[in-house]
Amino acid sequence: LETSLHTCHKPKLPPNPLPPFYCCPPAPASSSEPINFTLPDPAEPLRVRRPVHTVGAEYMAKYERAIALMKALPHTDPRSFYQMANIHCAYCTGSYRQTGNQELDMQIHLSWFFFPFHRAYLYFFERIAAKLLGEPDFALPFWSWDVPDGMRMPPEFANSSSSLYDPVRNPTHAPPRVVDLGFVGVESNRTDDQQIQYNLRTMYKQMISNAALPSLFHGQPFRAGQSDKPGPGAVELSPHNTVHTWTGDIALTNVEDMGTYYSAGRDPLFYPHHSNMDRLWEAWREVGAARGYRGHVDFTDPDWLDSSFLFYDEDCRLVRITVRHVLDTEKLRYKFDGVGMPWVDARP
Ligand code: C2O
Repeated sequence: LETSLHTCHKPKLPPNPLPPFYCCPPAPASSSEPINFTLPDPAEPLRVRRPVHTVGAEYMAKYERAIALMKALPHTDPRSFYQMANIHCAYCTGSYRQTGNQELDMQIHLSWFFFPFHRAYLYFFERIAAKLLGEPDFALPFWSWDVPDGMRMPPEFANSSSSLYDPVRNPTHAPPRVVDLGFVGVESNRTDDQQIQYNLRTMYKQMISNAALPSLFHGQPFRAGQSDKPGPGAVELSPHNTVHTWTGDIALTNVEDMGTYYSAGRDPLFYPHHSNMDRLWEAWREVGAARGYRGHVDFTDPDWLDSSFLFYDEDCRLVRITVRHVLDTEKLRYKFDGVGMPWVDARP
């Protein structure tokens, strides 16, 4: 399945009333674009993504500065924070159509594109941040809400004078509130300790019990010519969606910013949230290899591997990247470090 750039348009309004928005990217600078993605030089230093709660204030100040630099760019710049957030909006609201099937929407949620699309998105986001910072080995920290010490909104994001702040959030979920990985809009009355145990069991259930096959983890196949949203994998629904809903402002119709597709990327917490999701893809394969769960492997279907998405890179070039390109994080020159998987033994 291919995204067709030239058909990006104003989305149809979904069932919920959404405010008007337009989130198509700027036109490419040259008509020879998009160019095909190539992997980074294997001699590039390996970026190490670490958890927000242990990476340290100095490191978080870099992320804060990267966001401030993106926010300072004009909206016409594809590296601006405005355009970064719009990438997500365009891929999730029916703004794009499928190449060759102009009546059919491209949508990267609720199907087997969920993990690879978001990985590619963060790959470009991280490299743009590194370039703006002038720090070639900058790595995007992750919000590890799956380990007890990471189960609160990191305080850096709750400081109203920081570039990491977003006023459009649930005010009652500011730190030190413990995240509810099962949140669907109703407050639980668990104690912090009960909530932590509940979260660990949720992780076990979603990463292991409910994710024994590629389609159960990644989501259902979505091929060119088919209609979108064939069905999500377990982890996309929870904890991914639940953390989005928990963070957004539940008093608003669409739970903005984090709780709905068109606005989620406007919250600087979106990217560390997805950095953790990206890590859980690695974790799912690792647990499978360690325990002999033979279904914990990626699809090998060429319709998945050859599907592609469009992004602007750190040099403002429009690039077409395929799923095949994003299966190995070391080839993309990054890895995760700094936390374990305390939920692997939290069998409910
Ligand atoms: Cu594209 Cu967390 O959603």
